[in-house]
Amino acid sequence: MTPSPATAAVRVRRAELSDLDDLVALEQATFDSDQVSRAQFRRHLDSDSARVLVASANHRRFLGTALVFFRKGSRVARLYSIASLPEARGKGVGTALIEAAEAAARQRRCQALRLEVRPDNDAAIRLYQRLGYHRFGPVVKGFYEDGADAYRYEKILK
Ligand SMILES: CC(C)(COP(=O)(O)OP(=O)(O)OC[C@H]1O[C@@H](n2cnc3c(N)ncnc32)[C@H](O)[C@@H]1OP(=O)(O)O)[C@@H](O)C(=O)NCCC(=O)NCCS
Repeated sequence: MTPSPATAAVRVRRAELSDLDDLVALEQATFDSDQVSRAQFRRHLDSDSARVLVASANHRRFLGTALVFFRKGSRVARLYSIASLPEARGKGVGTALIEAAEAAARQRRCQALRLEVRPDNDAAIRLYQRLGYHRFGPVVKGFYEDGADAYRYEKILK
C-alpha cells in the first residue's frame, strides 16, 4: 500500500526501556479497564512472545503504540492493544502501527492477525475494516474486565 502524505512521516520502531513512561501514561489515559501495567510492559519489551511497537514522527518521539502477541507453534498473531495520543489521531498513526504489526507477524511466519474490539468502538472498527480486517466468530460475551462484550476481527496475511 502506498502511504498517504499524512502517513508518510510516521515511523514505527520497537519500544525501548526509555519509552516505558510514555507507554504507561498513554495506557492509563486511554483505557478504563484491561490496562497493561508498567511491569507487564517491562516484561513484554524483552519477551520473545511479544512485540511492543512505538510510532514516532520527525519532532515527536512517541505518538502511539501497539502490542502484538505471538504464541509458540501458532501461526496466528494477536494485536492485543493499540492507541495513539489523542492529539495525534486521524493522522495515520494507527494505520502505520497496524501495518507494522502485520509486518512483525509476517516476519514470524504468522498467517493471520487477530484482535478483539468493543462493539461500540466505531473509530477502531472503521480503521480495521479499511485495512482489510473481517469480523469472525460469535460475539465474545463479557470479554473485557468491565464486563463488556467483544467482536473478533481477523486479517489473513499474504
Ligand atoms: C483506534 C485508534 C488507535 C486509531 O488511531 P489513529 O491514529 O487515529 O488512526 P488513523 O489516523 O490511521 O485512522 C483513524 C481514522 O479516523 C479518522 N479520523 C479523522 N480525524 C480523527 C480524529 N480526530 N480522531 C480519530 N480519528 C480520526 C481518520 O481519517 C481515519 O479514518 P478511516 O479509518 O475511516 O480512514 C485511536 O483512535 C485510539 O487510540 N483510540 C483509543 C484507543 C482504542 O480505542 N484502541 C482500539 C481498541 S484496543
